[in-house]
Amino acid sequence: MAMEVSNKENEEQIGTEVTPNYRNFPMVPRVIFGNGCFNQLGEILLPKRKSVEAPIIFLIDDVFEGTSLISRVPLFPNDQIIFISAEEEPKTDQVDILVKQVRSEFKELPLGIVGIGGGTLLDLAKAVAIMLNNKGKSEEYQGWDLVKKPSIYHVGIPTISGTGAEVSRTTVLLGPEKKLGINSDYTTFDQVILDPDLTKGVPKEQWFYTGMDCYIHCVESLNGTFLNAFSQSYGEKALELCKDVFLEDLEESESRDKLMMASWHGGMSIAYSQVGVAHAMSYGLSYLLGVRHGIGNCLVFQYLEEFYPEGVALFNKMIEKHNISLPKGVCSDLTDSDFDIMINVALSLEPLWENALGAEWEKHISPEKLKSIYQKI
Ligand SMILES: [Fe+2]
Repeated sequence: MAMEVSNKENEEQIGTEVTPNYRNFPMVPRVIFGNGCFNQLGEILLPKRKSVEAPIIFLIDDVFEGTSLISRVPLFPNDQIIFISAEEEPKTDQVDILVKQVRSEFKELPLGIVGIGGGTLLDLAKAVAIMLNNKGKSEEYQGWDLVKKPSIYHVGIPTISGTGAEVSRTTVLLGPEKKLGINSDYTTFDQVILDPDLTKGVPKEQWFYTGMDCYIHCVESLNGTFLNAFSQSYGEKALELCKDVFLEDLEESESRDKLMMASWHGGMSIAYSQVGVAHAMSYGLSYLLGVRHGIGNCLVFQYLEEFYPEGVALFNKMIEKHNISLPKGVCSDLTDSDFDIMINVALSLEPLWENALGAEWEKHISPEKLKSIYQKI
């Protein structure tokens, strides 16, 4: 996630002084937090139900199919649940198919889209909400501020913590040519429901890898050249929460609460700064090999001690404490042209490198360097 343009990117001359053109970015306008607050979804949606014909569409991770959570979804007769597998990263094609399906089944535009799941489901919900009100294919909107019309009302309900997708103004999609976010003021959710109870039962490795996405957001934001007091204030809090969750022995419910808020603060931190080396290289892994975002970040981050020495040392302690063994040999069978594909994807993410290494980042990194890191993975 988090493919924001730096607030330092554009500068304009005012009088004799050069002042940065600060980014005016949207935040989630409504959020509810607390164990069991999912039960308030019905009353939250009620004021939006202005037509009896138009549905609310619930996009839900298919791991919840047949579970008690589904019976708690406040369905009206015309509403629809669409179960979606989060086994793979969200794709532009997948968004286009979902939009076509919804348009063909209902005469009226839906009243809202509700995404329930991890980063994949949240990103799909954001993208579908945008594309229901915009023409063409979703790949045409991958980039910065290309969305023309407001999205329809959309709600995000995370069931795993760490990606920060619940707060970000992007939805990262794998397209035919690139893995890139639809970054826009219309991407951000209108409502988020943070119910830590929903994260009960997440498999341990998935919990760890997704939590490390948040931890790496903090490290990359706090060690970046784009850092400012806004980002720092959120990043430091998120880092403190991550340390509590992954290095202390907390009660399970306290751990769930804290990781959910770490994800939120980590997302807020990168909203006004940027991620860095691990994310850039992880995008390459994901593009070529379909490696999931959280684990991809971990696979790269373990070898980034020269960029983030303290961050990697702490990461190793977390890995050890939770007995996580990262896969090995992921890149061992790759050809030179495979490496080139990953390197090109990684290096194309210029704002990430500029944040990590400064304006003259190209002098400090080379394709050979990236290849040597990928070869270790
Ligand atoms: Fe991330």
